[in-house]
Amino acid sequence: MKGLILSGGKGTRLYPLTYTSAKQLIPVANKPVLFRVIEAIRDAGITDIGIVVGDTAEEIKAAVGRGGRWGIAITYIPQDQPLGLAHAVKVSRDFLGDERFVMFLGDNVIQGGISELIGQFAESEWNSQIVLTRVSQPEQYGVAELDDSGRIVQLIEKPKDPPSDLALVGIYMFDHHIHEATESIAPSWRGELEITDAIQWLVDHDYRVYPYVHRGWWIDTGAPSAMLEANGLVLEELTPTVEGYVDRDSEVDSRVTVEKEAEIVNSVVRGPTIIGERTRIVNSYVGPFTSIYHDVVVKDSEIERTIVLEHTQIHSIPARIQDSIIGRHVSLTRSPIKPKAYKLTLGDHSQVGIL
Ligand code: G1P
Repeated sequence: MKGLILSGGKGTRLYPLTYTSAKQLIPVANKPVLFRVIEAIRDAGITDIGIVVGDTAEEIKAAVGRGGRWGIAITYIPQDQPLGLAHAVKVSRDFLGDERFVMFLGDNVIQGGISELIGQFAESEWNSQIVLTRVSQPEQYGVAELDDSGRIVQLIEKPKDPPSDLALVGIYMFDHHIHEATESIAPSWRGELEITDAIQWLVDHDYRVYPYVHRGWWIDTGAPSAMLEANGLVLEELTPTVEGYVDRDSEVDSRVTVEKEAEIVNSVVRGPTIIGERTRIVNSYVGPFTSIYHDVVVKDSEIERTIVLEHTQIHSIPARIQDSIIGRHVSLTRSPIKPKAYKLTLGDHSQVGIL
């Protein structure tokens, strides 16, 4: 079996972070979401993985490389325009050949991995397997209607009047019949070739599509609030380790991970939380559900339920920072220079909430 990861898109809902970084490379619990997806597929025993890339191709190639560090081979497949998930399958035709494959959206995080599911499909006679989960706003997703025996009746993309609350999670398994389907469907109202329509085509043509209902959590990290939620959920599953230095005046609980060469000095850190390599936390409080990436300094400040990216400096902030995502090389400090005022240099589409 092969793996196909979709890693295009502009990530507009995560501006300004995604002006300078692909959304799939934003870390959740100090590891880019895309790396988590690669590892989930690798853990299912798949070593031949294609990554479909768009505008952010160069950056993704630079971060991921050829796959050696995971013991896999990665092939990059350019998609000139984001014309839909079924279009991404079309442009991957040469890479996929006639093999069975799992397709995974590169910005999705799912609890518990997918090894078992992929194993099942690899052994089965099914033409496709889809993963569904119950959601509170099904109109935002592809939605499946099942009959009493659990068979698929229909699949609809972003229905105004959803027939159920079972959304299609961004994980799909196919055999080569999907290629006939992607050639046969027309673009949707949003101008995209929808994978949901391609799967409906399989159902309509009596191919066997098996629905699997996932019961753990699943998050599409496309927006800041979802990113923070995913961060918290992944942190809760980490097995904490302390490899860095914690001084005697600090209080660090058992759910905190302190990565190599990090330093915690005269501070309180409550888990689940992760402190990245070479990061220094000094005279500060770092609260639960926080991920601080590498080479950051937090001094005389309080921070909670937040993601901080690399090389950022946070000094002497008078109020607690909470529910925030702070980018790379940011300087957030208290300014002693008069006039007493907020002095901001913010990127386009920044969002700041002040006390
Ligand atoms: C895509 C699919 C949709 C699926 C969703 C999962 O939506 O078209 O069926 O439920 O991913 O994240 P999009 O992100 O393109 O709106």
